[in-house]
Amino acid sequence: MANPLFPTEAEVPEQYKMTPIDQTTYLVNGQLKEWKGERQEVLSPVCLTNFDGSISQKRIGSYPLLGETEARETLAAAVKAYDRGRGVWPMMSVEGRIACVEDFTRRMVAVREPVVNTLMWEIGKTRGDSEKEFDRTVEYIKDTIEVLKDMDRVSSQPKVDKGVFGQIRRAPLGVGLCMGPYNYPLNETYTTLIPAVIMGNPIVFKPAKYGVLLHQPLMEAYAKSFPEGVINIVYGDGPKVINPIMSSGEVDFLAFIGSARVASILEKQHPKPNRLECIEGLNAKNPAIIFDDANLENALSENLVGALSYNGQRCTAHKMLFVQKGIANQFIEQFCQRVDAMKMGVPWEKGVGITGLPEAGKTKYLDDLVKDAVAKGAKIANKTSSINQTYFAPIVLTGVTPNMRIYQEEQFGPVVPIVTFDNLDEPLQYIDNSEFGQQVALFGNNPQVIGSAIDVLANLVSRVSFNSSCQRGPDTFPFGGRKDSAKKILSVSDALKVLSTRSTVAGKYTPENKELIRGILSGKTSTFLNTDWIL
Ligand code: G3H
Repeated sequence: MANPLFPTEAEVPEQYKMTPIDQTTYLVNGQLKEWKGERQEVLSPVCLTNFDGSISQKRIGSYPLLGETEARETLAAAVKAYDRGRGVWPMMSVEGRIACVEDFTRRMVAVREPVVNTLMWEIGKTRGDSEKEFDRTVEYIKDTIEVLKDMDRVSSQPKVDKGVFGQIRRAPLGVGLCMGPYNYPLNETYTTLIPAVIMGNPIVFKPAKYGVLLHQPLMEAYAKSFPEGVINIVYGDGPKVINPIMSSGEVDFLAFIGSARVASILEKQHPKPNRLECIEGLNAKNPAIIFDDANLENALSENLVGALSYNGQRCTAHKMLFVQKGIANQFIEQFCQRVDAMKMGVPWEKGVGITGLPEAGKTKYLDDLVKDAVAKGAKIANKTSSINQTYFAPIVLTGVTPNMRIYQEEQFGPVVPIVTFDNLDEPLQYIDNSEFGQQVALFGNNPQVIGSAIDVLANLVSRVSFNSSCQRGPDTFPFGGRKDSAKKILSVSDALKVLSTRSTVAGKYTPENKELIRGILSGKTSTFLNTDWIL
């Protein structure tokens, strides 16, 4: 390959070639409806060398830019599918809804290859990580089904307390708006979309600005596996298509993964705030705290992955490193060597760790953060420091101080700020003052130091990792955050809970009511008041 960063079209291996997807339909009311209006061109973060030697982002397709009318149409379809709780979907038994999701999963697995390949081209995620995202999502759906079966088995047992008979089940919240992020456009979207749907909620789904086309191979599955109106998809400019949906007041819950700023705007658009449930995964700036007695090798490898996997574009990424003074020189020197050794390149190339960034204007934003820090006294500690088309070679900044933008802002990219410290009070003060409170990672081996740090930090963030980088998984663990980092906890089981509500059917345990209960159970006249056990 003449230029490994920018191959020619012919140099793209056959199995990874990308035929542009020009999506001309949107899903509403179970139909793939043609759209003839404005469209959004999609450029890959992967740049190719053209015949004339110029370099440009590969065009990988386009998708509809719908308007207000179509946005209202998708909402109306979801509202109709809920039909004030009387719709086919909310009335369906849990077993019936599980069967639909299982059918969807089979269809999803059948299109693994086009989804993974599009994911790779659309957001520049390495081939290995794109495969992992897909497989982890399928596993998440399967786990969700098993947990829901268990939950339903428990709910199938009525109880009698203080002379009152009761059966308690989880019921849908109503109509939902689901919006996912660009960095995990499949996985994080599905960690709310699937639990929302399986709990009986019809939804409108709006993909993030980047990471839209990968859903195209799944469109038929969405349409075929679920009754009409259960999943509706809206595309377009957020303010144009989301404002009418939220301001209608007909949305019962917002499941949103994105920025706290946008989440606040959306919430305020809803005229009935008490009706709206918000399930949100928002910004984060997770610090790693590396103590003098840390195992250097482990701290280096965990922080390299923690800070720079998928170019640092993970909500859980280490976005600030606090290194204690006794280990600082050694850590910084070796960390920079490892950062400089990271291979940049196209996402299908083996061993590549740094790929092109999908967001327009992102390289300039990162460059501005670095320039601001350097102007205020920070040093670039590693060798590489260059922007090349969509690539931003990772930069390690030392001497970072609170007056620098990088100290506060979530960079969500390959810039690693380092602060050296004497006393734990310094990183603690940073965490106290931060707008965010998702996770923190501690590196050290003194039980006294780590033990007492855990106790404080568990009250400030939602997960404290030790000698391991911050991360969301395993998906059975709670994933949440404090302050501007999240609303509600997600995990396989928590998602099912926060995307539903408990409903109780109760009556005095009188002979007359016993007769009525017997009649309902034996005649199977209710799916709610029912003791069937899911097999
Ligand atoms: O972007 C946020 C993701 O939920 C992080 O997940 O820690 O598994 O990369 P991860």
